[in-house]
Amino acid sequence: MQVGIDQIGFYTPNKYVDMVDLAHARNEDPNKFLIGIGQRKMSVADQTQDAVSMGINATLRYLDQVELAKVGLLIVGTESGVDQSKSASLFIKSALNLPVNVRTFEVKEACFGMTAGIMIARDYVRLHPNHSAIVIGADIARYGVNTGGEVTQGAGSISILIKADPQIMTLNDGHSAYSADINDFWRPNDSPVALVDGKYSKNVYLDFFKHTYTAYQTQTGSKTSDFTALLYHLPFVKMGFKANQLAIEKEDEETKKRLADNFTASACYSKEIGNIYTASLYLSLLSLLENAQLPENAKIGLFSYGSGAMGEFYSGQIVNNYEQALHKTADQTMIARRQKLSIPEYEQIFNRALQVPEDGLELASDEQSGMWYFAGTENHVRQYRQK
Ligand code: CAA
Repeated sequence: MQVGIDQIGFYTPNKYVDMVDLAHARNEDPNKFLIGIGQRKMSVADQTQDAVSMGINATLRYLDQVELAKVGLLIVGTESGVDQSKSASLFIKSALNLPVNVRTFEVKEACFGMTAGIMIARDYVRLHPNHSAIVIGADIARYGVNTGGEVTQGAGSISILIKADPQIMTLNDGHSAYSADINDFWRPNDSPVALVDGKYSKNVYLDFFKHTYTAYQTQTGSKTSDFTALLYHLPFVKMGFKANQLAIEKEDEETKKRLADNFTASACYSKEIGNIYTASLYLSLLSLLENAQLPENAKIGLFSYGSGAMGEFYSGQIVNNYEQALHKTADQTMIARRQKLSIPEYEQIFNRALQVPEDGLELASDEQSGMWYFAGTENHVRQYRQK
């Protein structure tokens, strides 16, 4: 029996900033952001979108394909948690009408959280093949206005259904994990924005990629030329590009071209949306699936990285007719529907979103109908509504 990814749902908020506008406002050469960083736009969440509402909205994309009574596990990976105690997954479980006997919780290890969830879900479904698992990554990357990390912000969510005999990608046995207690990027409890040692974080990311990729190859006997595509956590597109260059530098021309072309396809969505932390690697997967032509049984390698730090490399095989399980038109409409913000509008929305709304103040959303949003707190309890 094969277990893997059966459905992928995606959500990003309805506003964005253009990197050329941001470069002009920060007195930078636009090519630094467009070429040096590799980003074109970044999604911006206002006060009414958070990890919970984005996770619900991503899952709504495929909810009609799910047998709700068979969902035994719901895991949310996030580093934009809304509560220090109650799991974001409980609000989501309630909105999705999942059964009371679902096991549900939130996991945190920076951007690695969703991969941790997928590995737990894979093993769970292998033991309980009649059940499925939903794994969500949902995050808002915030470094602050006029900071070095500002150009690498973003917001969004990916939701994945893991089940037996999946329609999109089976998950192979074997993985290589690597961890170290370091301080490249973190967010203390008293800070609404991340703190980062930017240049160090770039070096550590590449170091973790080398460790996990080499260990995976040794463990499984696989070679770079076996892969149709290598996917990366994309804090910004240039970061993954650098890792991909390391992977392909000694390969023949055909392998180099295939992995470079498929990297470009995998980065299309991140280039438009920015960093969505836990879900970023899975946005790369969605982008590859919807922007490349993959042969049946194509082998896909995935490198997950969470600062702090935890890395893991694993792989999957593409299922025949996977295209039929995708929601390509809806996903592309989701990206195209966003409204462009001027830089002063973005700064105002950004700063307001950092503030906890006064208790009892009802928030209104300008999202399209059907979407969920955070509507404020009543007696300090977070309220979520569907528009
Ligand atoms: N035209 C073309 N390229 C230009 C250019 C121009 N006019 N001007 C500069 N560049 C290039 C630079 O040469 C550099 O390229 P290389 O990386 O190849 O050297 C690139 O643009 C970026 O320039 P800088 O390094 O000078 O940029 P910076 O110091 O202003 O900040 C950053 C870049 C460190 C990534 C910063 O945005 C940041 O701190 N981001 C957040 C941290 C981050 O994302 N780290 C990634 C690894 S950690 C991780 O993956 C976890 C996570 O999600 C956070």
